[in-house]
Amino acid sequence: MRRSWVAALVLVACQTTPVAKPEPKPAGAPDATLVISAELRGYLGPCGCSENMRGGIARAAAQLSKVRSEGQPVFFVDSGEALFGAARIPDDAVPQQEKKAKALAAALVAMKLDVRQPGPLDDVRGTDFRKQQALPELEGGVRVLERGGFKLGVVSGASAGELAERAARARRDGARFVVGLFEGALDAAIPQAPKSGVDLLVAARAKDEVAGEQSRLLRGEVPVAQLQSKGRSMLRVDLWHGAGDRPQLFAGAADRERALAALDERIEMLRAQTNDPGLAPELKALRQEKLVELESRRAAQASEPLETPQGQWGFATRFLPLESSFPEEAGVKAIVDAYDREVGELNLALAKKTNKECPVPGKNQQGFVGNAACLDCHKEAFPVWQASKHAHGLETLVKVNKQYHLDCIGCHVTGWQAVGGVCRIDKTAGREGVGCESCHGPGAVHAEDPTVKNIAKGNEPKVCVGCHDRENSPHFEYEKYVVQILGKGHGRE
Ligand code: HEC
Ligand code: HEC
Ligand code: HEC
Ligand code: HEC
Repeated sequence: MRRSWVAALVLVACQTTPVAKPEPKPAGAPDATLVISAELRGYLGPCGCSENMRGGIARAAAQLSKVRSEGQPVFFVDSGEALFGAARIPDDAVPQQEKKAKALAAALVAMKLDVRQPGPLDDVRGTDFRKQQALPELEGGVRVLERGGFKLGVVSGASAGELAERAARARRDGARFVVGLFEGALDAAIPQAPKSGVDLLVAARAKDEVAGEQSRLLRGEVPVAQLQSKGRSMLRVDLWHGAGDRPQLFAGAADRERALAALDERIEMLRAQTNDPGLAPELKALRQEKLVELESRRAAQASEPLETPQGQWGFATRFLPLESSFPEEAGVKAIVDAYDREVGELNLALAKKTNKECPVPGKNQQGFVGNAACLDCHKEAFPVWQASKHAHGLETLVKVNKQYHLDCIGCHVTGWQAVGGVCRIDKTAGREGVGCESCHGPGAVHAEDPTVKNIAKGNEPKVCVGCHDRENSPHFEYEKYVVQILGKGHGRE
């Protein structure tokens, strides 16, 4: 499979013809760059539940444009699992999720996606739906892309054998560098890598949600990468022509990676400290400023060209986390904004049409009754609750005009899809925000016949993490959070 020196030198010679190089590139600049996105899982952007949340397709687009502005040929590849976030969608969420998938596809087209390998999450609404999005897909698992005289091979496969066969085909068609999109998780990709025949293998599907939290690169004979999911990071691969019979992952890149990893760790720590709910505003502002500074320092370091060994054939990889302080590209942002605007109207119309309301709890039946039913007997608890953010949970969504988004409403009202709770997005009266029963449980029976046995104390972390989960409240710590919701009249003397 290895090509001879001669072939390599011929290709290098072809490269030096001035056809596609309008300007001389700066020393160290790559001859071509590949940008990879993976596992978008239906995310146009983060929910904004926590501060400094990464991600967003419009941010990805801006980073990609920045790379393109450097001047070398740039390829953009997606490894799949982009259109939907879950294998099953409840019936009433189908219109919203399909609309989101279409917006994502439109964004990828606007970003001039070169090719992608669809995964199971792209087919949640059927292969026809996927194909209607007209995204460029790997046919038969192999494609050779050519830009500015550089030939890039993209292959997919679920085993070393499959990848190797396709990589060989790509090389026969002149590919100088072959990236493999492994249809599985990192753990499964690692043993397949050495015999995969590719130069870099990307594991396209995180094993589980936890695994999808981190970007990882394993150096080896064939390096293997996995990206942070939900559109929070991209992978940048810079490529240099040169002599040798196989492109090498440059050693200089390893030092850069270590420096970036150290910065990433500091950023992660500072992010957690900034999100502490008990923090004084001045201190919060200071930390926020420092965080943004570190994020931009990291971005600057990641985009500096590497000191590359002269004349060597090789590549370097860098993750590009999409920090909330980074710019968004206007064109793609317009696609996202249109989705946000229209999906609320769509859901509202659907809610009116289906007119599904929650059943009202019958006599002696447990169900939600709303805060008003607690007021008479627990007046003293109310001022504390009213002063908490929970009381304004729905207003928060109204402010960003997402009160009719099915992706949002569940945790920002009381008793979503439960007896006596909220089943129609536009019928939230008396259940707005995170009410008493969000923590104390449905209170119909207790309100009729109050005892301590028929109402929950609410003091267990597990009642919180239903909403304060890894994604929406990444730095949740019960002890730090619970003190914020208690006070004189509510759980305190
Ligand atoms: C799984 C539950 C859950 C879902 C779904 C959810 N949120 Fe949240 N949201 C939370 C929690 C919990 C917090 C508080 C997080 C914290 O401070 O640690 C929050 C906080 C917020 C805040 C910040 C409020 C403030 O006072 O600063 C905004 C804005 C927000 N959410 C918007 C949204 C939007 C928009 C969506 C849908 C795209 C959404 N949320 C979906 C649970 C959720
Ligand atoms: C008719 C009056 C009444 C209403 C209405 C009422 N409660 Fe109570 N609640 C009580 C009394 C009385 C106790 C104390 C019972 C005891 O100590 O035996 C109590 C206790 C509680 C406790 C403490 C439980 C414990 O284990 O210490 C919580 C929490 C609570 N109520 C929440 C609520 C919520 C939430 C609502 C509204 C859904 C509500 N209550 C409605 C009278 C009421
Ligand atoms: C039904 C979902 C839900 C449950 C259950 C819930 N929360 Fe929340 N929590 C939220 C949402 C949504 C917000 C953001 C509200 C806003 O600002 O709009 C929030 C915000 C908070 C905040 C403010 C955070 C900040 O950044 O200032 C604290 C503190 C908090 N919750 C503590 C708790 C604790 C402790 C529990 C469990 C005892 C709990 N929550 C249970 C949804 C929930
Ligand atoms: C975010 C979760 C949460 C919400 C929302 C909440 N509580 Fe509580 N509540 C708690 C926790 C935690 C305690 C403390 C339990 C303990 O440590 O014993 C508590 C304690 C109580 C108690 C018993 C202690 C006391 O001070 O009498 C009552 C009664 C009560 N809550 C009523 C209410 C009412 C009424 C509301 C709505 C206005 C409400 N709670 C909203 C979590 C919550």
